[in-house]
Amino acid sequence: MTPSSMKAVVKTGTGKVEVKSVKVPQPGRGQALVKVFAAAQNPCDWMKLKDGWGESPESVCGHDFAGVIERVGPDVSPERKAGQRVAGWLDGCWSAEDGGAFAEYTVVDASLLVDLPDSISFESGSTLCFAAFTACQALWQNQNLPTPLEPAKTSFPILVWGGAGAVGQYVVQLIKLSGLQVITTASPQNHELMKKIGADAVFDYKDPEVVSKIKSFCGDQELSVAIDCASLPESVLPISQCLGDREGAYVALVMPVQVPAKHIKSDFSLIYTLLGKVGLSFCVRFFSDVIKFSKPQTKGPYEYPAEAKHYELAKSFAKMFSQILKEDKIQANPTRVVPNGLADAQSWIDYQEQGKVRAHRIVYSINESPAS
Ligand SMILES: NC(=O)c1ccc[n+]([C@@H]2O[C@H](COP(=O)([O-])OP(=O)(O)OC[C@H]3O[C@@H](n4cnc5c(N)ncnc54)[C@H](OP(=O)(O)O)[C@@H]3O)[C@@H](O)[C@H]2O)c1
Repeated sequence: MTPSSMKAVVKTGTGKVEVKSVKVPQPGRGQALVKVFAAAQNPCDWMKLKDGWGESPESVCGHDFAGVIERVGPDVSPERKAGQRVAGWLDGCWSAEDGGAFAEYTVVDASLLVDLPDSISFESGSTLCFAAFTACQALWQNQNLPTPLEPAKTSFPILVWGGAGAVGQYVVQLIKLSGLQVITTASPQNHELMKKIGADAVFDYKDPEVVSKIKSFCGDQELSVAIDCASLPESVLPISQCLGDREGAYVALVMPVQVPAKHIKSDFSLIYTLLGKVGLSFCVRFFSDVIKFSKPQTKGPYEYPAEAKHYELAKSFAKMFSQILKEDKIQANPTRVVPNGLADAQSWIDYQEQGKVRAHRIVYSINESPAS
């Protein structure tokens, strides 16, 4: 029997969280209630604690989880049932009703859940969705690139800047599964990891000669597509230099930063538009000058639109990801499972804000795993 209240990490003030007892959310139309066994921490977990976000008291933090479906709401596909092991993501830190991943239970759109095979632990599984859906969006929302389901007949190189981050690791693997060549950048201590997950060539992004080394590696091959998994002023500049002045050069961004070369087409995509419903995002508020769809408001976060096309894409990403995981073709991000469950969330969120999380995810074990 589902309890009526649960432990959850809630926002209590600017930059502040506490573990509190809150109501277990109820699954609405198309939603599943998931008993969360593990939750992974993302950069947005500290970003959303800043001013102007999460005005609602008791907004539950956390975006990434793995667990077991407790029950489903009305109008959920019969394929989704209580008892299934799943991984998923959501727009956390918004309200108690909408749910968050740093909790014993959460509600989520059932059609965006990914099947979690028995071979993957809940801890690893909790890192699978937020970063991977961001990776899928960067690769396929605005470009017609080959996919793991329809791989390239003729390979070509793609530059992945910042391959060691959580998003970067999925971008590297998804490009490789799509039959393409991966050139990536990472700090030297992560070069072995990059090779292990499929990168064809890895360069140190802090090396002053990184651009010439990448160009010389490519030789006569045309490098015209880049995925910038850092999306910082210090990443878009060398990427632009690597792409040179080729017609049709393109860079996909995960944060809204200006690309310094006018001839390079770029798109910034925001994961929340994949939810297919109107929502509010701190990100649009912070970067309203560069996000095209922002609607100025005087107070609170800005609105992002309902994008039906993106929602259809998200459902296809969930299906594709379930298939790839079933076939054991992709590795979850390395994890650091922290002691004491959610109890020390404040210090781990602060730790991530200080930039100390490199090439792995902080993961909270939340419930005892069910007997198999
Ligand atoms: N648009 C969206 O909807 C969306 C969704 C998810 C995430 N994001 C954003 O995407 C970014 C990446 O997210 P994430 O979860 O992958 O972060 P993450 O796992 O915390 O990324 C950490 C990694 O970033 C790499 N890095 C840092 N500075 C770099 C630079 N200048 N050049 C290349 N690599 C650099 C580091 O690699 P080394 O250890 O090798 O130095 C580090 O391991 C964040 O800014 C996040 O907020 C956006």
